[in-house]
Amino acid sequence: MRKKVLVFRELPDDQLARLQAEHEVTVANPRIAAQLPAFEAALPEAQGLIGSSFPVDDALLARAPQLEVISSVSVGVDNYALPALHARGILLCHTPGVLDETVADTVFALLMATSRRVVELANLVREGRWTKNIGEELFGFDVHGKTLGLLGFGRIGQAIARRAALGFGMPVLYHARRPVDLARQAPELQGRAQHTPLDELLARADIVVAMLPLSDSTRGMVDARVFGRMKPGAIFINGGRGATVQESALLDALDRGTLRAAGLDVFATEPLPMDSQLRTHPRVTPLPHIGSATHETRHAMAELATTNLLKALAGERPLAVYDTAFA
Ligand code: DGY
Repeated sequence: MRKKVLVFRELPDDQLARLQAEHEVTVANPRIAAQLPAFEAALPEAQGLIGSSFPVDDALLARAPQLEVISSVSVGVDNYALPALHARGILLCHTPGVLDETVADTVFALLMATSRRVVELANLVREGRWTKNIGEELFGFDVHGKTLGLLGFGRIGQAIARRAALGFGMPVLYHARRPVDLARQAPELQGRAQHTPLDELLARADIVVAMLPLSDSTRGMVDARVFGRMKPGAIFINGGRGATVQESALLDALDRGTLRAAGLDVFATEPLPMDSQLRTHPRVTPLPHIGSATHETRHAMAELATTNLLKALAGERPLAVYDTAFA
């Protein structure tokens, strides 16, 4: 039976065509003012939603009484009101697995850029300031051989650890709720990655990478205390979710010189407000949340999300369902 599907963020043409072949599809992105009326008009009838980067909160769900399934084109599910979805029995699908290596590449790009001052030195050349050999005031710091501390050690954290340990000879410490069974999940990291209490990790790591999902227990977790425990001159990278970090505490640690630099792909508010000091701080390398933003990976995510939605609307088990009881 053809159902009503609302696509709330653009999908590649081939995936949109898969949906249109089986269902009545409305494409309307509520972030675009001109498309908001169409979004609002389609919501009351929508049985399936597919998209990302828009808060699907209690108020929105209340305007969608027919909703059976949401298919998020993301692995993170912090945009969704999980208790309301659980209470109404609305299925939530997401896209784990297909973006791990790409997000790990992005994090490594930030790690290299901050340590070797890549953006700052590229700007020096661009702006015609490369008039003599650079002096040590512009030297960077080695990445290879340094100790990496990972906050969060899911699939993406493990992909970062592989790059660090196997490619750059970096000892890896990780902090997670439970130690990961490396023999089973990541044998190549056995003897190379060590489950470590948070304060010990902060005291030993030269580079701290946060890859935390956003939940009530991680919101604001990287605070002044955490920055205060980091090794003087450490580098901080955030590739998880912006709101896991207290941004005022991060700025303070940068200004005091506790931190050497920060590389940030995510922020508490996105897009980053124009008046945010993180946008222009000389020791921050900010990126516009590009973790998974390659042609190949975004297509793979859209394909998986479309498959999830089609299966759910057909009454079949989708490939990746998020357990909304786990808020
Ligand atoms: C996700 O899928 O949650 C990532 O943030 C995308 O980059």
